[in-house]
Amino acid sequence: MTHPRIAIVGGGIRGRIFAETTHHHPAAELVAICEPNPSRAQQLAGDLGVPAHPSIEALLEDGAGVDAVVVATPDFAHEQPAVAALEAGLDLLVEKPLATTSEEAERIIAAAERGGGRIVVGFENRWNPLFGAVRQQLREDGHALISQRALLQDTVFVPTQMLGWAALSSPAWFLMPHSLDMATWLSDAEPVEVHARGVKRLLPSLGVDTWDRISASFAMSDGSILDLDSGWVQPQGKPSVFEFRFEIETEADAYVLDIDATGARRATSERTSAIGAPAHDRRGRPQGVAADMMRDFLDAVGGADVDLPGAAHGLLITRAIEAVHRSLETGAVQPITS
Ligand SMILES: NC(=O)c1ccc[n+]([C@@H]2O[C@H](COP(=O)([O-])OP(=O)(O)OC[C@H]3O[C@@H](n4cnc5c(N)ncnc54)[C@H](O)[C@@H]3O)[C@@H](O)[C@H]2O)c1
Repeated sequence: MTHPRIAIVGGGIRGRIFAETTHHHPAAELVAICEPNPSRAQQLAGDLGVPAHPSIEALLEDGAGVDAVVVATPDFAHEQPAVAALEAGLDLLVEKPLATTSEEAERIIAAAERGGGRIVVGFENRWNPLFGAVRQQLREDGHALISQRALLQDTVFVPTQMLGWAALSSPAWFLMPHSLDMATWLSDAEPVEVHARGVKRLLPSLGVDTWDRISASFAMSDGSILDLDSGWVQPQGKPSVFEFRFEIETEADAYVLDIDATGARRATSERTSAIGAPAHDRRGRPQGVAADMMRDFLDAVGGADVDLPGAAHGLLITRAIEAVHRSLETGAVQPITS
């Protein structure tokens, strides 16, 4: 297929990246933004010169020819637009997590089986060349894995100001899909059971009723262990809004990745802050892992053979994070079905 026609559902932070990337792509066409917030919809659609619709259903009723859809709605709101797109036979890139219940994830997959479209789940860290280099090195060395440990945390800005829907998510739904996907991708092992602990203290006092911090210890299918630690109440004086550190230990070697600490720093008399890579290149095109992922998705919709994270893996991650929450509620170790 030449020049696939793309609609973006959810015109927030992520929807804008995917829309701009499509707008600038030489072999794809952005055809619409679907976003229920009228001012946000008009702003993004106006910037990129395409029509806005309040929902994907409205777009499909309009009869606009669309080949693929990107769903970038809040964590808890992926199922309805994903199912609508897949029922219409379209290809889908859906943000992580695939869904926040395994029943919703299974209904999304069933819709793809009925409609014949492909599901790609947006595990964007696979496009980070540092993770790719470590994965390659692990394969070349062939040493058995002993443990992995990841710290992925945000400042309190994220659940209190950046996202309007944090109370309907958690650090496990918003952050752990990234670190858990990386652990499975680096090791080729799957999580089989989990024990989690958490703290709910600061955010409820600020009117956002969700977990501050969650620590989850997983047993992996290859006999290794994985510890994931995610929270979103770090003080705003931190140099960067997020912090991502990943450690891997094999029989022979140890690896450390500091994903957030690769940029520049600026110190003033008040604080030190990070200057990350610009979100756009010198010609105004989005750059970074999300844009790279989107370009690969567009190439795949156009017919290229690209290795992309799919629905079965998305379902596994959803089941694992669901088990994290079950363990938080019960205090007990929870199995993870694959
Ligand atoms: N922000 C990040 O750093 C980041 C990074 C990676 C992945 N993600 C994931 O991307 C998804 C979107 O996150 P975001 O940060 O862009 O959120 P956001 O709040 O900035 O944007 C979400 C948008 O979706 C709209 N929306 C809600 N329900 C809708 C529906 N049914 N149809 C169409 N639009 C709808 C909202 O009005 C809002 O404009 C989430 O699943 C999140 O976990 C976010």
